Amino acid sequence: MRVMERTFREQLFFLVLCLSVLKGDSRYIENNDISKDELFSFFNPELKRETPEELLYRRPLRCLDMIAVEGQFTFTAERPQLSCAAFFMAEPTEVISVDFDNVDIDCRGGDFITVFDGWVMKGDKFPSSQDHPLPLHERYVDYCDSGSLKRSVRSSQNVAMVFFRIHNAGSSFTLTVRKHINPFPCNVISQSPEGSYTIVIPQQHRNCSFSIIYPVEIDISEFSLGHNLNFPKRSMPRCAEAGDFVQLLGGSGIDTSKLLPITDFCISFSGSTHMKVGCDNTVVRMVSSGQFVNRVSFSYRLLDSQELQTIKLNNVEDFCFNN
Ligand SMILES: *[C@@H]1O[C@H](CO)[C@@H](O)[C@H](O)[C@H]1NC(C)=O
Repeated sequence: MRVMERTFREQLFFLVLCLSVLKGDSRYIENNDISKDELFSFFNPELKRETPEELLYRRPLRCLDMIAVEGQFTFTAERPQLSCAAFFMAEPTEVISVDFDNVDIDCRGGDFITVFDGWVMKGDKFPSSQDHPLPLHERYVDYCDSGSLKRSVRSSQNVAMVFFRIHNAGSSFTLTVRKHINPFPCNVISQSPEGSYTIVIPQQHRNCSFSIIYPVEIDISEFSLGHNLNFPKRSMPRCAEAGDFVQLLGGSGIDTSKLLPITDFCISFSGSTHMKVGCDNTVVRMVSSGQFVNRVSFSYRLLDSQELQTIKLNNVEDFCFNN
């Protein structure tokens, strides 16, 4: 348990480090005085249980932050902060709303607070532009552009983020973060390196991805595509030609459209398929034509360092280790 916890933290820290390569001036992020332990203290699961529903949790927002609980987060600039970002995360079956409150920033002087519907890291986006229901420009909502018109922004999936730039010491704003049930989750980033999940796409023409930002062993236990009932197995078209299929993808970024395919499934089965994927990001992606009800169930657990080492030694060709 201890070991896993540490690896989880290391992975998260890796994510946050990627931030420093975000577009914009990275000097300020490198100079950020937030400590690694402070950042991870927000992940204490007890925190969530201890917070009574009627009382909103409150704390200051940092220039570089990671938030997995509901609450009010207030940023107050003590000096110019030109490149800040806060990542938000909820359960797979939740979406996140971010409200702007008590905003005192200098929009005309170049300050901004922008909510992004998803996560952006190193220019990579989750969900990828291909899989998100909104065009890219609509996924950014800027406080200064929308003014008082748009005080609340709701994400399409369980992750969202806020970028902000503040020039004047003393400027401040508060973000109220809430979670809401999402009855039809599509794209998801897993909060933890182990668990189980079922992607269901009920006769919709869309693609959904479940992203696990850890190297994991994944066990696909059940998979059914409506159309297979009508096809004798022999005449099954190749997966990509079938309108409905499941891909297992791997790589080091968060943009699923840039990951490499590990394998495809397009024939229904129930049983189980185990696979160890030594990538930083492992994704189960379902492509759905909209004609059928498609579902895939899987469970996953973190690979330990010995297993990773073995994969590394056995698969010299493995793309996750050649990068
Ligand atoms: C789903 O993904 C497939 C293959 O990646 C693509 O051809 C198709 O256009 C996508 N469908 C939607 C609705 O985005």
